[in-house]
Amino acid sequence: MRILLVLLAVAWAGCDDDTAPADLGGVDLPVQIDQATPDLTASGPSAARGEYLVKSLLICGDCHTTPNGMGQPDPTKFLAGGRAFDFPAQVDGGLGHVYAANLTPDQTSGLGSWTASNIVDALTVGVDKDGLPLFPIMPYYMFGNLSDDDAMSIALYLQSIPAISNVVPKNNVQVPQASTRIDDTQIPHTALPSTDPGFASAERGRYLVKVSCIECHTKHNAPGAASVIDLAKAFAGGETFQIGPNKIPSANLTPHATGLGGWTPAEIAATLKTDQERGVGRMLCPPMPGGTGRLGGLTDPDLNDIANFLHTLAPIQNGPFGCTDAGIPYGVPDGG
Ligand code: HEC
Ligand code: HEC
Repeated sequence: MRILLVLLAVAWAGCDDDTAPADLGGVDLPVQIDQATPDLTASGPSAARGEYLVKSLLICGDCHTTPNGMGQPDPTKFLAGGRAFDFPAQVDGGLGHVYAANLTPDQTSGLGSWTASNIVDALTVGVDKDGLPLFPIMPYYMFGNLSDDDAMSIALYLQSIPAISNVVPKNNVQVPQASTRIDDTQIPHTALPSTDPGFASAERGRYLVKVSCIECHTKHNAPGAASVIDLAKAFAGGETFQIGPNKIPSANLTPHATGLGGWTPAEIAATLKTDQERGVGRMLCPPMPGGTGRLGGLTDPDLNDIANFLHTLAPIQNGPFGCTDAGIPYGVPDGG
């Protein structure tokens, strides 16, 4: 039996040092959310493609679902919002709270009155349906690099799910200056030449990771900087997440000895599928969203493309980072 003795948080997004939300509550156990089957033959936007992106690549549910008693997103309230992100002393010396929105099409508490294009704007520009700025815990500055079809697919999916009535409390923290979209031209490409047979796969992988992994696996700059993340060290890890008493750093995903140097693409894909550290079997620390119900739901071709991209990035020396490197005991392997 798998036992994880952790009473901790799943935190995602901009969670660094003084800007970090305090303890967010949550445990990184597998969630029982039905995996979507992507419609790979569809051209143009489709709710099926949106479902796949939401559940298996972009993991919106970890933020937009109220945790149950186990600290896990409650599958019966999937995407119905309410999870609180706490900030120490921002406004009047008290604790500030920002609540993730109800994304189901409920008329009063959710997105029932939003058009698909309102949803696309929230996702990619960071404004609500009245044009007011969203708090940048919501990583719109990353989702802005989604293709138009993928952004619309997500909107169509959100409009297709059952409405759940769940009134989310009002935020009591002022929205900081808007975060600028991550500059796609500064995100590295595969180091393979375009004539290499692996080039196309690696560049497909680049698209998938630039709208998902880059946020957690790149160190964030100080608030107010021109770029939210340090693009000179894209994918080189070292962003930290306050999970209970521990500051958990994300791993360097570039193929340097301090990162994934020496890993095969198959080993990278297996790690995403199982959420277990290569060779050790230890469950990865939260908030890494590996395994069933999350990145483990990616199709084999998508996993393969992601792994091929990371494997062929220019190596960056940074770290090593990760729970083990930081001396944080976490999780036990199967059979423990
Ligand atoms: C890191 C946590 C996080 C992730 C991941 C995340 N969101 Fe959000 N999102 C938030 C928070 C917090 C808010 C509320 C912001 C505010 O109130 O200013 C929000 C707001 C929104 C809104 C605006 C709704 C409203 O009523 O104002 C939409 C739409 C949205 N998110 C969609 C998504 C979708 C779709 C995904 C996945 C593709 C996603 N979010 C991923 C945290 C997240
Ligand atoms: C919500 C934040 C978050 C997201 C999103 C995320 N990761 Fe992670 N990832 C982490 C953290 C934190 C760790 C360190 C966990 C540990 O050391 O136990 C990690 C660890 C890993 C590891 C293990 C490295 C090692 O040395 O054992 C791999 C591989 C990885 N991530 C790949 C990815 C890929 C690929 C994506 C996107 C498809 C991704 N991650 C998305 C936070 C995240």
